[in-house]
Amino acid sequence: MCGIVGYTGKRQAAPLLLAGLSKLEYRGYDSAGICIHEGKQLQVAKAKGRLQVLCDQTNNGDAVKGTVGIGHTRWATHGAPSDINSHPHLSCSGKIAVVHNGIIENEGKLRNKLTKLGLQFYSETDTEVVANLVGYYYGETGDFLTAVRQAVARMEGSYALGILCADLPDTIIAVKKDSPLIFGYGEGEYFIASDVPAILKETQTVSYLDEGEMVMFNPERVQFFDANGDELEKKKEHITWELDAAERGGYDHFMLKEIFEQPKALRDTLSPRLKNGEVVLDGIDLSAEYLKDVRKIYLVACGSAYYVSVLAKYIIEKTCRIPTEAVMASEFRYAHPVIDEKNLVIIISQSGETADTLAALREAKRLGARTLAIVNVVGSAIAKAADQTIYTWAGPEIAVATTKAFSTQLAVVYLLAAYMAQQLGTMEPEIYAKWVQELEKLPEMAEKVLSQENVQKIQYYASRYYGHHDAFYIGRNVDSAICLEGSLKLKEVAYLHSEAYPAGELKHGPISLIENGTLVVALATVQPLFDKTMANIREVKARGADVLCVTIEEMKEAAQENADGILTIPQVLPELQPSLSIIPLQLFAYYVALNRGCDVDKPRNLAKSVTVE
Ligand code: AGP
Repeated sequence: MCGIVGYTGKRQAAPLLLAGLSKLEYRGYDSAGICIHEGKQLQVAKAKGRLQVLCDQTNNGDAVKGTVGIGHTRWATHGAPSDINSHPHLSCSGKIAVVHNGIIENEGKLRNKLTKLGLQFYSETDTEVVANLVGYYYGETGDFLTAVRQAVARMEGSYALGILCADLPDTIIAVKKDSPLIFGYGEGEYFIASDVPAILKETQTVSYLDEGEMVMFNPERVQFFDANGDELEKKKEHITWELDAAERGGYDHFMLKEIFEQPKALRDTLSPRLKNGEVVLDGIDLSAEYLKDVRKIYLVACGSAYYVSVLAKYIIEKTCRIPTEAVMASEFRYAHPVIDEKNLVIIISQSGETADTLAALREAKRLGARTLAIVNVVGSAIAKAADQTIYTWAGPEIAVATTKAFSTQLAVVYLLAAYMAQQLGTMEPEIYAKWVQELEKLPEMAEKVLSQENVQKIQYYASRYYGHHDAFYIGRNVDSAICLEGSLKLKEVAYLHSEAYPAGELKHGPISLIENGTLVVALATVQPLFDKTMANIREVKARGADVLCVTIEEMKEAAQENADGILTIPQVLPELQPSLSIIPLQLFAYYVALNRGCDVDKPRNLAKSVTVE
């Protein structure tokens, strides 16, 4: 989705903004722009298409001089991608420039009012309305801060804003509501960004703006204000992400890099929480006392995080014997959920900013539920809003298609399940000990799955099957949940039509779509259900499908009798098997995408974090 960068200091702003925006390209965008303050002028350069177009247009920023500026990558919501609709937008007076992430819900009303006052609009965007609204109040009051405050008071919806005023040569005002915004501290220079990677090279000291907060800053002075307009002190936080974490580091794509980072990410997430044969969740209250009143657990999330929730249902119900339901966050609020203080709502999100997920969390809280969030991005809105938060320590995930975040979310689910089961006494001590042992070994097992030999096999199958038009992912129990994620990966990065079904469900309809040359990816890692899945493989083979099967090493020979291609993973506890079985599916999607000539890290129409409904 859209990205924001802003800078004020002694250096030339444009090259810094372009460099920052390049680090936000992964979020998905369709146009880019910058506005630099020079003298008493606001100079705007913007263009539809890749950031490179803007870089060429401005000679990599050299053509636009000035030490204060704001930049933006836009993912179209109001109006098609075009030069005119790109940000920054200027007010009619030319005095105010705005970059904006989010959606102004009452823009129609505001646009009408401003039009009646004689203001003209050139674009179809809600952001131009913001520029003119601030411009109007600036004309009335002559005070930049007052003008922004008055404009914001009339805006409904979500916004992170970076605003310049032609009469204040070195000043930026930034405002946050329901869309992330970070303030970065340098030496006599300051930054704003919608996401850490944009400024990570320049500073690792930041403050996260909270709901309704505003910051007005120039190289000499920084003032933060709360939602009531009162000045406040903000805590400075140190970003622990390593500088090169947001670089490709020799890999062709971020997606591939992040797939290979999974053993480390799993280690970082699991090891600090496994001590002396126990799961330790510091600062989290999931004691027997706390759990005794929990009637039902809801897991609420979007996309891949929702698929972690689907897996979690199998795992938590089996280990903790608490009724558990996975719900898509986009549906949660509108389904009139029967929820109260006897429910624990677990929210899962990599970014911690997904609009639907955040709204679901707020609804759960409004209904009185207890809330716990599993989040990757520290300081994100969901992390702050939940009663309790457990961080996945996946590091920055840049590729739009999630891989290591998914794996670490699942790892946290395992920790929670084992921990709660032990508290509740629903897991035999020897099983609990086995879980802890196997969780400790999981990163090492993931390394094995990523062996060169396995990767070569996957490359081979990808080159064999990439030309297929349709794919079906089938499996039973936890395998069926992993199929959902494997299938999503193929859709996202390889643009190959793909569906996922519990293998037993196939006969109830979808099997009519199986014909010569349909690709079926079958997961058979759940040993007690192995024979049943093999029977389903035979059914699709009999109808002409090409079958690629992922199974455990011990079952390789039996699987070979039925499938055309086999990929194996080491055997671990059945519930933990998904941590390993997802890896070949991620790699398969990646290599199929390469064979199909797709832009893996910037899949069409997708954005890294979906901050609008
Ligand atoms: C997965 O590859 C996706 N890019 C997407 O489904 C993602 O998992 C979803 O949008 C949720 O994002 P979040 O974890 O940041 O909330």
